[in-house]
Amino acid sequence: MKKQRLFTPGPTMVPEDVLLEMARPMQHHRTGWYREMHEEVHGLLQYLFQTKAMCLTFTGSGSSAAEAAIVGCCPTGHKALVIDNGKFAERWVEVCKTFAIDHTVLSLEWGRGADANTVSSAMDADPKIDTVIVVHSETSTTALSDVAGIAGVTRDRGALLIVDGITAVGAIPVKMDEWGIDAYITGSQKALMLPPGLAFVAVSDRAWERIDSGTTPTLYNDLKAYRKSMKTFDAPYTPAVSLMRGALLVLRIIKERGLEDVWAETSLMARATRAAAAAIGIAVFAKDPVDSVTALLVPDGVAEPALRKMMREKHGFHIAGGQGEIKGKIVRFSHMGYVDAFDTLGAISAFELTLMELGYKFDVGAGVAAAQRTLAGK
Ligand SMILES: Cc1ncc(COP(=O)(O)O)c(C=O)c1O
Repeated sequence: MKKQRLFTPGPTMVPEDVLLEMARPMQHHRTGWYREMHEEVHGLLQYLFQTKAMCLTFTGSGSSAAEAAIVGCCPTGHKALVIDNGKFAERWVEVCKTFAIDHTVLSLEWGRGADANTVSSAMDADPKIDTVIVVHSETSTTALSDVAGIAGVTRDRGALLIVDGITAVGAIPVKMDEWGIDAYITGSQKALMLPPGLAFVAVSDRAWERIDSGTTPTLYNDLKAYRKSMKTFDAPYTPAVSLMRGALLVLRIIKERGLEDVWAETSLMARATRAAAAAIGIAVFAKDPVDSVTALLVPDGVAEPALRKMMREKHGFHIAGGQGEIKGKIVRFSHMGYVDAFDTLGAISAFELTLMELGYKFDVGAGVAAAQRTLAGK
């Protein structure tokens, strides 16, 4: 069996200790044991999101909590601005359509992130907008939006800001209270180094006021039901008990290490990968690149399916392709979670070997050397 290294931007690799923790015997959730665990997870989530706000843990993938936040924060009588700069942003437009939420879409070129000026102009043009929905790290295009800047605009105007932080939280700087975010969402299978199945959302007091004023029908993905259970650190439905055990362990690990250190390492892996690409003549796709995942343009003459197949089957590195209109044009390498310098150098080396075998002409080894210089701070 070939050793597999998961370099996809979710799911990501899960540390061995966390896998073992999740394999421990099942316990019941309507118990003091579960409530204590949930209370500790809650405190650690507040650290992760850098907030004093209530943090809810949903059973479901990231989209479950994102849908709940959008539906809850956009009741009738309110209007949302959805920044659409990729595949995941498109999903939040779909949520607005599905739940008949009054909204307007601001489309950006793929690979670009949103900034304060763009959001400010869109809000000037339509004074009914009182909610902004933005993806912090748009995983499909690997673009970074300036969430801190956008929050300055929404705060000044008394609007709510909902942020999809699914590949941002635990990977790049996220400061919910300092910036003034109202709902921040993430999922377990990205920077949190867990299997898929949990979604987390931190909800500000301002957002709760809006949520409490609304009457949009929801049942399973209902923020209010989760909030009610939080009084006793319970869950409204059977929670994913084993995943919660894993969450407690990873969150303790992240806290012990310190978020600044985690953010710095993620950034270093991204910079090493971008330096490697530049050294072998491969372009980075995003004009506003994020550090949690890097998209590289597949060079002319190289078939993307063959590239990814060879990376996976011959060299054991599972990287992701593109989605939507950039399918076949890019490959993506994750830098989130349980991935270190030697994993990253291995991925770059495997990428070079694959490109060489597929006939791309370049200075073999230049990518690995450039990455090593970046890692050494040279
Ligand atoms: C930025 C972003 N938003 C939303 C999602 C959807 O999350 P999930 O598949 O966990 O529902 C993803 C998943 O890759 C993502 O990267």
